[in-house]
Amino acid sequence: MNRPLASDVDVVVSRRDTSTESVVVFELTARGDTPLPDWTPGAHVDVLQPSGLIRQYSLCGVPGSDTWRLGVLREAEARGGSKWMCDELKEGQSLRLAGPRTHFHFEAEPDVAVFFLAAGIGVTPIIPMAAEAAARHLDYQVHYSGHEGRMAFLPELHAAHGERLVTHVSESDGRIDLDALFSTATPGSHVYCCGPAGFIDAVEAAATAARLDFHTERFEAETLTPPVWPEPFEVELAMSGITVTVPPDRSILDVVEEEGVFVLSSCHEGTCGTCETPVLEGELDHRDSILTPQERARGDVMFICVSRAACPRLVLDL
Ligand code: FES
Repeated sequence: MNRPLASDVDVVVSRRDTSTESVVVFELTARGDTPLPDWTPGAHVDVLQPSGLIRQYSLCGVPGSDTWRLGVLREAEARGGSKWMCDELKEGQSLRLAGPRTHFHFEAEPDVAVFFLAAGIGVTPIIPMAAEAAARHLDYQVHYSGHEGRMAFLPELHAAHGERLVTHVSESDGRIDLDALFSTATPGSHVYCCGPAGFIDAVEAAATAARLDFHTERFEAETLTPPVWPEPFEVELAMSGITVTVPPDRSILDVVEEEGVFVLSSCHEGTCGTCETPVLEGELDHRDSILTPQERARGDVMFICVSRAACPRLVLDL
């Protein structure tokens, strides 16, 4: 289904680089005179494809430059989105994006050590974060793992980070020994991680055990567990002045859209952040892959495509 996008940006593919076997790198420039919006490390954009599919890609260039850069993984079993990007999208072609949006914020703090851990195409959001850490002269390390011959951006990462970059090639080095890596870290050091779900889970477990401050972004939806509140619940839409009832088998997003309330949305699986909605009252059953435990505990926003009430009634700022 073709759904509206937030803050549309029209761009042109100014360069397409297929020099890496596994990743196609696109450089995008603004179409027309309006410059590209600003972004910060960790931001991603939604790419709207001719089929109506919307896929999210991290920006992996330099914030403030007049081009954006995306790295797109060639997947053997590519879902339609990546296949179209890798096979069909050529230089000179126009593209409509939405964003940028950032749910993976890099908090550069002086005197706090930073571990960047990336696996595979998960390196893309880490690239601008590590560049900022270098520019701010932080104490940081970049650990990048992947398969032999399929690790994109390696030359530039070596040039930018020298000995601070440690590569872990699966075929020869095996898995990163996370417990050993974090054993010497000062509690409270930051860990920024991106990659496949299993990699993120392993890094999160090791970082949490070492009392490190863990940050991640997941582009794969979490497996949904049964709702905390298994009954229908009411949602008052404060701005619209209506109250709806959400049954157990439908999302809040579906129900409010049916009532004619316009909500921006994209992934419908709690990964992109487009449907972020302020919460005025009520306890939440967060089921997204975006918020940190601290953000969940604040209870002031939710992603209504997947998240639900943990009580009989919510009040949303919609
Ligand atoms: S539409 Fe993507 S998080 Fe809700």
